[in-house]
Amino acid sequence: MAYIFFIGLTYLVGAFPFGLAVALAGCGIDPRLAGSRNTGATNVTRLCGSRYGILTLALDLAKGLLPVLAARAMSGSWLFLSLVIVAAVAGHMYSVFLYGKGGKGVATSIGVFLGAAPLTALLAVAACVAVIKATGYVSAGSLVLALALPVLVLFLGPVALVPAAVVVAGLIVWKHRDNIARLRAGEEKSWRKGCGPAG
Ligand code: G3P
Repeated sequence: MAYIFFIGLTYLVGAFPFGLAVALAGCGIDPRLAGSRNTGATNVTRLCGSRYGILTLALDLAKGLLPVLAARAMSGSWLFLSLVIVAAVAGHMYSVFLYGKGGKGVATSIGVFLGAAPLTALLAVAACVAVIKATGYVSAGSLVLALALPVLVLFLGPVALVPAAVVVAGLIVWKHRDNIARLRAGEEKSWRKGCGPAG
């Protein structure tokens, strides 16, 4: 029963829209109404500047990392850990506080995998940063990070977390479907050019 309660609590923690709170408090802009209309660190940076973007990144990452560290201290069950991982990311993406809407889950996914499979998380972030530097597109880096997660977990372990990594990757890709359409159409705005209104 305590485990089910904790999974529900993790969903609620993941659902807290830090990006919205930071942008509203920091620069008075609702990120759901401007830029890419995403509540994540990329759009908060675009709208409010890097200081608030980094704060959003840190808070969104922490709300994935802390529940996973707590879950690992509570239990050695991979199923429980997998459900906590998915609950944190799904909470961020489909927030009860935002009427089922939410962010694209990249920072929270980094957080959960930093807690569950640190080397995987660090290598996925390295790949993400390399792609952003090479292409100028944050979304392209995010997609590479998403796809790298299950592959890295498969090779580096723990293999029991592969299903959770596949679910997280699938959710991130689904949430980036508009970015994918813009990338394919050559309409995604490059980070080097200020990332533009459509992201
Ligand atoms: O992590 C989100 C990023 O990949 C894209 O953000 O605001 O440009 O859609 P955005």
